Formats: sequence, C-alpha cells, structure tokens
Amino acid sequence: MNIRRLFIMIVCVLSAAMIISCSGNKEETKSMETMSFGETPEGQEVGIFYLKNKSGMQAGIMTYGATLVSLTAPDRNGVMSDVVLGFDSLSSYVIQSPYFGSTIGRYGNRIGKGTFELNGVKYTLAVNNGGNHLHGGLKGFDKVVWTVDQKESVKGKSLTLMYIGKDGEEGYPGALTIKVVYSLTDENELRIDYEATTDKSTVVNLTHHSYFNLAGAGNGDILGHELFIDADRFTPIDQGLIPTGELRSVRGTPMDFTKAEVIGTRIKDTYEQIKNGEGYDHNWVLNKAQGAFGLAARAFEKTSGRVMEVLTSEPGLQFYSGNFLDGTLTGKGGRNYGYRSGFCLETQHFPDSPNKPQFPSTTLNPGSIYKTSTIYRFSAK
Ligand code: GLA
Repeated sequence: MNIRRLFIMIVCVLSAAMIISCSGNKEETKSMETMSFGETPEGQEVGIFYLKNKSGMQAGIMTYGATLVSLTAPDRNGVMSDVVLGFDSLSSYVIQSPYFGSTIGRYGNRIGKGTFELNGVKYTLAVNNGGNHLHGGLKGFDKVVWTVDQKESVKGKSLTLMYIGKDGEEGYPGALTIKVVYSLTDENELRIDYEATTDKSTVVNLTHHSYFNLAGAGNGDILGHELFIDADRFTPIDQGLIPTGELRSVRGTPMDFTKAEVIGTRIKDTYEQIKNGEGYDHNWVLNKAQGAFGLAARAFEKTSGRVMEVLTSEPGLQFYSGNFLDGTLTGKGGRNYGYRSGFCLETQHFPDSPNKPQFPSTTLNPGSIYKTSTIYRFSAK
C-alpha cells in the first residue's frame, strides 16, 4: 500500500470516528462505517459511507455524485442481495457510468435544446444529449464530490451530503446550496430527502438514478418484474425524448400500469410512444394530489419475492427500462450488465418543465426552500 492510500484510509477512519464520537448514542452510530474509494482524476478523495438497519440491510453511499453504490434487501427467505447496479471501482463511475445510483441535478432529465427563459432572460445550458440538456449537463451533480456534514449525519442512520452549485455552472443561473440526506430505516426503507436554496431565480429538479434489479444486480434482465404505477396519465415524448407538452391518458396503451403488469409484456409494442422511447423511458403523472407525499409505484420480482414500493412528494415518475444498457458494461463482482438489466424509477418534476408553462413549476426563487422526499421501501412475499 502506498503512503497516499494509507493517508486516505486514515482520514476515512478518523472521519468515521468523528461521526461516532459526535453522537452520544452508540446504538445509533455503531453501524456507520466508511472506507476510501480512491480519488478522482483531479485528485479529490472519495469515500463510501455505510448505513445499516436492524434487519441487516445495508446501503453504501459515496461522496462522488452522492451516489448509492450498493443496497442490500432481503428476499422471501431473508437472504440479502445487492439490488442496485454499480461498479467496483471509482474510475468506472468516472469514465463510463450511465448514472448508476447517482444524485441527479441541477435538473433531472432533459431540457429541450438546452435553453429556457426565466424572468425574461434566456439561459443556454451545456448540451450533452443529441442537442438537448440531460441530467445537469456535462458535469452534473453526479460528477462532483460532495461534502459529508458530520454533525447532521450523527442523528441516527443517515448520511447528509452537501454541494454548492456555482452561479453559471453548466449554464444555470444562481448559486445553489443543496443538501441530500440518505436514511435507512428499520422499516426497510431507503429514504432520500432533498433541500436546496438559491441566491438568484433558477430551476431545480433533483432525482435519484439507481438501476434496480430485484433478483439481484447482474442477475439477468428486468423484463419479468411486475410494475404498478399509480398514474392515469403520462407525458408523451418526441423522438428526442422531449415531452410534447401533452398529458395523455394511459388507458388502452402499453403505458397503462394502473394494474400491475409484467414489464416485458408490451415493451416491443408498435405504439408510437414505445418506439420513441425505444422501450419505456417516460414520465408518468402521478395520481396523488399535488405536493402530497404518497405511493407512486410498486415493483415485484417473483423468483426472489422482493417488492419495492416508491413513495414521493414529487408529481412525476420517470420509468426507464434500461434501454441504453447494451451489455458492454461489467459491474460489481465482474458481472456483465446485459440489455435492460436494471430499471430506474426516478421521482421528479416533469422533464422540460422550464419550457412547458402548463407543467408544475421547477422555478426556485431566493428566500424559498426547495424540499422533496422519496422513499424506496423493501419487503418480500
Ligand atoms: C434517464 C433518461 C434516459 C437515459 C438515462 C441514462 O432515465 O430518461 O433516457 O438518458 O437516464 O442513460
């Protein structure tokens, strides 16, 4: 082991010790472990922090991208498996990750042509997806190193990460101060709370981009999973995956998940929206009342019995069926990630809202606090 690596390890062990010593409640923090995950090409150190709960679930979160790198969940026999796709090395996350487990911002999903107008000013963002802006641009929040707030992280089994997006970063107006809190509850819930404030009017849409496979990461495709989405409408997209602005009923289409349906059944349908998305890659308009926290979706995998429920305060849910996973990525434990080997359920405001005044607003003004919460809740049957 070289001196630098040894130094990084000592720093990590010390920071874990600080978390424990700040607590005064050993029961709560005994389970907080941390390890070094190397450093970025710019020389910034990255650590992984672990949360654990009573039933033995464990979540690993790294400071690069405030990324969930692992999450174990019990099957119907209580056997734990890691249910999120990811890599064993930081360099793979830096070089080739399709946002595995990332915190996405400043704006989750696409902004058409990378431009929008706010208070009469036109802003031009970095374009990184066929002429459009995707997931915060060339260097979104998934590609920066976040700071751990040691004081806040001691309150139980949670980790608080902070980042300040600069005024003008990726083209966005306003310095944005963001806090993301990951908690693992004894009710087998991974809870994510987001908070942000700005010093100039801006747009914000933060989300979480884990690719789930309830049979275990690297255990085949996700086409056999059943999915329920509590949404009567979705936002149709054009061929560039930009919403047209319409809110369309799901009735009679392959987009209808109001009763649990097997994901693979209609994924090759000739419906124009399935063609545009090359599978499922759309935002559903959740039925619950605006701003209310409640159930958005439920996924079930029958061989393991694992169930994952998604609850959120957000109005929309992007269901992405891993259509761009093409089998070229080798993930954790040397496992190959084949076509559609993970699915994402990204709670969010609708894509391209800054250009769609009819969609719920994503504008954040100075003096207001952006606050959203999402829970991924696990059980088995
Ligand atoms: C999102 C988008 C997809 C794709 C993935 C990342 O979920 O909706 O179109 O860009 O992220 O590969």
